[in-house]
Amino acid sequence: MVRIAELWLDFIQDPEGSDLNIAPNDENKERWIKFAESIIASDGGALKFAVVGEDVGGSVLYSWEDSPLQLQKKRGTIYDLFVKKSSRGRGIGKALLLNAMKDLRNHNVEIIQLTVKSDNFVAIRLYESLGFKEVLKIMRKEV
Ligand SMILES: CC(C)(COP(=O)(O)OP(=O)(O)OC[C@H]1O[C@@H](n2cnc3c(N)ncnc32)[C@H](O)[C@@H]1OP(=O)(O)O)[C@@H](O)C(=O)NCCC(=O)NCCS
Repeated sequence: MVRIAELWLDFIQDPEGSDLNIAPNDENKERWIKFAESIIASDGGALKFAVVGEDVGGSVLYSWEDSPLQLQKKRGTIYDLFVKKSSRGRGIGKALLLNAMKDLRNHNVEIIQLTVKSDNFVAIRLYESLGFKEVLKIMRKEV
């Protein structure tokens, strides 16, 4: 878990993948671990990772219980998908995503939701190739 959280820390400091608003510190690494553990412990989601050699090459965290409200269609959320820089472009991200999508469908999820930075073209291309479409915009203003 700590090795995956270290990859997550790299991911949130990567301007290509993250909006850089999450403070990259050890406290947040611990909080991310607690968040991932709480999802797993509640049996409402999963954390999967890819092993490359003896190392963690990438990871995906997702949930099939993402809303306290009754929804018309059961929705799942993919929170974090990341692949170590040195392991990118080898099909790991796509494999992790497909695995998460399959697991979500097995938990009766009908809609899968995720957030991606508007200029993260690599990730957007991956998501679009698997049928994801833009339906919401997140708007921000510094005040
Ligand atoms: C996005 C990310 C997870 C993709 O993982 P990856 O293992 O490198 O991707 P894959 O090798 O499985 O490639 C999957 C698809 O991504 C796209 N892709 C991958 N590398 C690409 C590149 N250099 N340029 C353009 N598209 C690319 C392609 O559509 C590719 O599909 P194809 O091979 O059928 O053409 C990875 O780049 C990453 O961790 N980025 C930083 C974190 C991030 O952005 N996460 C998503 C946050 S929402």
